[in-house]
Amino acid sequence: MTAAPALPAAWAYMVRCPDGSLYAGWTNDLARRLRAHRTGKGARYTRMRGQGGTLALAYAEPCAGKSAALKREAALKRLPKAEKEALAAAWAAQNRVTLRMAAPADAPAVAALYNHYVANGTACFQHTLASAADFAKDIAAVRKAGPFLLAENAAGALLGYACAHPWAEKDGFAWDAEATVYLAPAAVGRGIGGRLYRALLAILQAQGYCNVYARITHPNPASTAFHRRFGFVRYAVEPHTAYKNGQWLDLAYWRLALCPPPPDPAPVQKRLPAAALRAILAAESE
Ligand SMILES: CC(C)(COP(=O)(O)OP(=O)(O)OC[C@H]1O[C@@H](n2cnc3c(N)ncnc32)[C@H](O)[C@@H]1OP(=O)(O)O)[C@@H](O)C(=O)NCCC(=O)NCCS
Repeated sequence: MTAAPALPAAWAYMVRCPDGSLYAGWTNDLARRLRAHRTGKGARYTRMRGQGGTLALAYAEPCAGKSAALKREAALKRLPKAEKEALAAAWAAQNRVTLRMAAPADAPAVAALYNHYVANGTACFQHTLASAADFAKDIAAVRKAGPFLLAENAAGALLGYACAHPWAEKDGFAWDAEATVYLAPAAVGRGIGGRLYRALLAILQAQGYCNVYARITHPNPASTAFHRRFGFVRYAVEPHTAYKNGQWLDLAYWRLALCPPPPDPAPVQKRLPAAALRAILAAESE
């Protein structure tokens, strides 16, 4: 089995405010802290300079715990502007996001990422860790008719994945796909899920798929907000349908129509021409 990677206990970070200035802070939950800054519930500084634009993560440094992170935060705050900018530039270069199509050889990294969610929380209902062999088969199966996308940083580390399984087996469902997305915990909240989903949906649309479905644990506020943002609409909830971590959980069904139902749909293209695929992936890479 492929073990889930450990999540840093704390972070020292900098965000770039809409006015171009850098704010340094610390947190033990980077995604939540970023969202707080973006919604005006973070620091007074970012609230004052955060109006009318996008606030983006500019630097993130994993720390062993709160006291180490507080020390690094203080050190970052003391740095001259030029040194802060140099750190941010180096971090941006290392964390440049590239999207590509997965191959079965990527299975160990994908399994390790997914296993974080098997071992922690209820985003997925699986109890036992997935193996690389499971994912090697899954990637190969998905790629027969749809995308299995990876987001990587400049060093080739996996930041997240999104894929589209067939929704149901019978021929009549050939225009329907089920979307799935998982980010490495340290990569949540930086817009990487959005890049993956925009590319995934663009590929499915270009292939000729009509409907995309998502099954989401209810509640899963991040995934719910994320899917709503992409236009998915919830149409059903199965109550108490899955048991994990000592509780019975509901499962919500979400749907996005990629096009009005065509009267005489052309068969889905199993593979897009390489140039079309490259263009979609490039548009969502940095
Ligand atoms: C759900 C998930 C994929 C979102 O990925 P992400 O990279 O953090 O999302 P993005 O930063 O691209 O956010 C895109 C939009 O989704 C919405 N969103 C994402 N996370 C949100 C949150 N925690 N709260 C509210 N809205 C959220 C926002 O509208 C956001 O746009 P904005 O930042 O302009 O407001 C990610 O949180 C994740 O991997 N979660 C754990 C695994 C999981 O639950 N997967 C889904 C299984 S069904």
